[in-house]
Amino acid sequence: MTSVLPRPLATGDRRPTPRRYLLCRPDHFAVHYAINPWMRPDLPVDRARALAQWERLAALYRELGHRFDLLDPLPGLPDMVYAANGATVVGGTVLGARFRHPERAGEAAAHRAWFRGAGFARVVEPEFVNEGEGDLLVAGDVVLAGSGFRTDPRAHAEAARVLGRPVVSLELVDPRFYHLDTTLAVLDDATVAWYPDAFSPASREVLRHRYPDAVVARAADAAVLGLNAVSDGRHVVLPAAATGLAAALAERGFVPVPVDLSELLLGGGGPKCCTLEVHP
Ligand code: ARG
Repeated sequence: MTSVLPRPLATGDRRPTPRRYLLCRPDHFAVHYAINPWMRPDLPVDRARALAQWERLAALYRELGHRFDLLDPLPGLPDMVYAANGATVVGGTVLGARFRHPERAGEAAAHRAWFRGAGFARVVEPEFVNEGEGDLLVAGDVVLAGSGFRTDPRAHAEAARVLGRPVVSLELVDPRFYHLDTTLAVLDDATVAWYPDAFSPASREVLRHRYPDAVVARAADAAVLGLNAVSDGRHVVLPAAATGLAAALAERGFVPVPVDLSELLLGGGGPKCCTLEVHP
């Protein structure tokens, strides 16, 4: 049968680039409070299982040839495993985080100290609330910036000034997708995957215009945080339950790398939440 659909790209066409990440072991992971709709303090959490799943994620990054450093987990900060929220790093500049909820406030200083210790000369403590790479996604030459639940819209201009990159502001409207990285994944400098219903109508238009070739996720994949994915330009590490999204990515020439982080989903996070990318 002849197909009228465009031929999918050969998988060899997508080029990975080696990445640098900062991760934090879930040694103290727990769900003791609820600051997003995924968190249910009344349900049990299996920390040993969370650790095993996290170890697999770290092993995958190693297998894919990426470098990562480890931030020491601190007792009393059960969400610290979601390292993406602690800072935004581009070209040697570190824009520190300022958390919306007091429960996570202590994480920001730990991140700033780590980056100073690692030799980053410019580590900036922000004025406005921003939850790091949960809401500030580096996409090629721009930063896609979410607001609506966590990051203060005024932090967008602050990020543009500190990071020296234009910022594209996007408004989130569905509390399940409280950080931009829960509903939009940067696949490479020119492509994203996203779930339109999580955005205000105006932001949907901005994204449609900017990324006409984007991978548009279905509700079922968004609902398992499938878009909380980490791409190196070829391999896309994503939640294993997001099978529809994995197929759509494969059709577009990406190589989906499913990972089971079901225990960390109890805190409202997936692979990307656990991964702070140190952008060159
Ligand atoms: N429990 C954490 C919170 O609600 C999860 C953070 C997930 N991180 C992310 N980058 N989306 O803050």
